[in-house]
Amino acid sequence: MTYLITGATGDVGARVVRQLIERDIRPRILVRNAERAHAFFGQAAEIRVGDLSNPATTRSAIKGVHTLFLVNVGPEIPQRDEAAAAIARDEGVRRIVKLSSLDVEQGLAIGAWHEKGEAAIRASGAAFTFVRPTGFMTNLLAWAHSIKTEGVVRSSTANGSRPFIHSEDIAAVSVAALLNEDYVSRILSITGPRSLTFSDATQIIAHAVGKTLVYQTISDEEAGERYSKVSGSPEETAAHVALWRAIREGRLAATTDEVEQILGRKPISLERWASENAHHFRF
Ligand SMILES: NC(=O)c1ccc[n+]([C@@H]2O[C@H](COP(=O)([O-])OP(=O)(O)OC[C@H]3O[C@@H](n4cnc5c(N)ncnc54)[C@H](OP(=O)(O)O)[C@@H]3O)[C@@H](O)[C@H]2O)c1
Repeated sequence: MTYLITGATGDVGARVVRQLIERDIRPRILVRNAERAHAFFGQAAEIRVGDLSNPATTRSAIKGVHTLFLVNVGPEIPQRDEAAAAIARDEGVRRIVKLSSLDVEQGLAIGAWHEKGEAAIRASGAAFTFVRPTGFMTNLLAWAHSIKTEGVVRSSTANGSRPFIHSEDIAAVSVAALLNEDYVSRILSITGPRSLTFSDATQIIAHAVGKTLVYQTISDEEAGERYSKVSGSPEETAAHVALWRAIREGRLAATTDEVEQILGRKPISLERWASENAHHFRF
């Protein structure tokens, strides 16, 4: 059985590849940069160079594959999911495991892009599993610059909270979904162990780094202005501002017990993530 992993040089996809390799599986990976992929995995993965915006390279990578792990990013998610699902159906792929988002439940911002992608995969008739994680702990790396230079975290989420999830848990659930037919047609809504305000998260990082940090609430306008400096597009900036507003309004605070149900252990805590990543927040 051949597994094709997309997004294999990214946060979740690389962990999925590593976890498959640990199980003595040599996955095929679709990557844009072969050198980078080779530096990550050497010969342990079968590297195919391609781009999910290019149907010819997607088809060539998908040929002969049994199960596809599909990662798409940005406003093109609906079109790219649809194109990959159509090719997968034509090429006889048995199952698609899509990295989606828990925000689909709110039809919100990036969640709305994933909702359309999920709909396209369902419409293709392919057997599917949708992995829907909440906000990644990894997102907090975006705070590194202001923590290092000013000892400050700024956010428009105010006292709203989110049950941040560790990418290793997302990958482990995704691998379970890839390897186990029981998850066909299932939506796996996964969160970390508890809901935390961004102020709580700031203090957990402060403890790990051994430094005093200050949390400041800012307006939607300021959050948008700051994000637009690193954003790919106005659409992505608007999506993030809407997401932070939803957190502030308490709409994304719920936890689930699905990580524990699927993996038989508790999800990884933000305290552990902060200690693993403390070096990113120090000079
Ligand atoms: N961050 C969150 O809080 C959150 C929450 C819920 C869901 N999600 C979803 O999780 C996904 C992101 O996962 P991640 O953080 O693991 O991603 P990531 O670290 O941003 O990596 C993205 C991966 O996709 C690859 N890629 C991008 N465009 C491509 C294209 N046109 N063709 C082929 N490959 C392409 C990248 O390759 P290169 O190395 O070549 O760039 C990289 O391997 C998104 O769908 C996002 O909406 C995120």
